Amino acid sequence: MSHLCITGGSPLHGTVGVSGAKNAALPIMAASILAGGPVRLERVPRLVDVETLSQVLAELGLRADRNAEGSLTLTTVDPQPVRARYELVRRMRASFCVLGPLLARRGRAVVSLPGGCAIGPRPVDLHLRGLAALGADLRIEHGYVIARARRGRLSGATIDLRGPRGPTVTGTANVLSAAVLARGETTILGAALEPEIVDLGSFLVSLGARITGLGTSTLHVRGVEELGGGPYRIIPDRIEAATLLLAAAITRGSATVAGVAGGHLDAVLERMRAAGVEVEVALDRVAVGASGRPRPVEIAAMPYPGIPTDVQAQWMALLSLAGGTSTVRDGVFPARFMHAAELGRLGARIELRHEAAVVTGVPRLTGAAVTACDLRASAALVLAGLAAEGETTVGHVHHLDRGYERLEEKLNRLGARIERVSGERAARSAVSPA
Ligand code: EPZ
Repeated sequence: MSHLCITGGSPLHGTVGVSGAKNAALPIMAASILAGGPVRLERVPRLVDVETLSQVLAELGLRADRNAEGSLTLTTVDPQPVRARYELVRRMRASFCVLGPLLARRGRAVVSLPGGCAIGPRPVDLHLRGLAALGADLRIEHGYVIARARRGRLSGATIDLRGPRGPTVTGTANVLSAAVLARGETTILGAALEPEIVDLGSFLVSLGARITGLGTSTLHVRGVEELGGGPYRIIPDRIEAATLLLAAAITRGSATVAGVAGGHLDAVLERMRAAGVEVEVALDRVAVGASGRPRPVEIAAMPYPGIPTDVQAQWMALLSLAGGTSTVRDGVFPARFMHAAELGRLGARIELRHEAAVVTGVPRLTGAAVTACDLRASAALVLAGLAAEGETTVGHVHHLDRGYERLEEKLNRLGARIERVSGERAARSAVSPA
């Protein structure tokens, strides 16, 4: 099991670029099932999750060809298979996004339920409700959703996708992808506003789909008979960008993240300014600078355009060093605080109360061996390790590789000192008290 060995204390300086957005690439790859010809996706990040979904798609008859510049071409070579098996879907829940496209294009689907994960319950009731409204007969047997388009083809409907915690991102992806080939008109109320969903919608329109309202909570779709193929460029990853900016802030450095999409980071940048970080926004880049301890702030993760839940853990790492007490809440995944205990091993003082974490800032963190349980918790521990005195080892780095493309290389280019230690060397070199 690999881990990252981090020597803390180096302020980050310089400029770094971001990769394509994982949470746009995944639903767009799944929606390629709908295409009537090859789809060439540009700026697809090289991630474990992308590889896993490529395997799911291969078993569904889509060939994936990566070329040197990093684009990914998906071509349907066999339109028969409709089964997405548990062993793959459980590894990467976004594989569940093949359900809508399979139903719309092939009329049938047998897709494993995704199961739970470290950040809390991950139901799919809204997905199923939306697809049933489009005329799918669905039943759950032996952990699989077995679905069929009632009359061989889905039919447009008005669907309310609002859930107890607001919109569902991949639920919107599944239902929108299914609606584009349904007979007639579909209205989706309570659709997710995330830029990754707008990107999915723009991708579908580029194939010939007829969608209006992208970027609002009400989407209108006019079903078409078929879609074409073509090229499409994935948006940059706003979550990676926020992670890199927070890394510069926690190390009291000054760095520029290039290639970000304007407006996607507004809520994060507003909170960084409130925490006393200097922020400069240009057309496609953001520069931040920090010289002392951050000011304490309130963080409430919410659906877009709020603070993304996917940067809540990274914020908790930064606020661990604030000159005062902060409160962190997560309105999307209220129990997403597994990283608090591991940050505590580095010296953070975090008290979990009902659906909130109270972070009492400390003047310094000290290096330790820590282990992450999910992708964004891993990122938070890396950030804390960058600021901690001494050496930190972050174990189970495969979580990080699911969603960040060569993160340690990007951070090292900014002056971090991170070494990836793989396999048995990791066991021998794990940090232990002197
Ligand atoms: C997507 O997950 C992202 N994953 C997550 O990013 C992100 O944290 C999440 O959206 C919220 O922004 C991808 O896009 C691949 P949801 P998703 O459905 O779609 C409840 C990362 O680190 N809900 O928007 O699974 C649910 O319990 C990952 O990159 C229902 O009640 O999340 C949650 O409270 C982690 N019923 C809320 O809605 C449903 O049918 C939002 O979940 C579906 C969801």
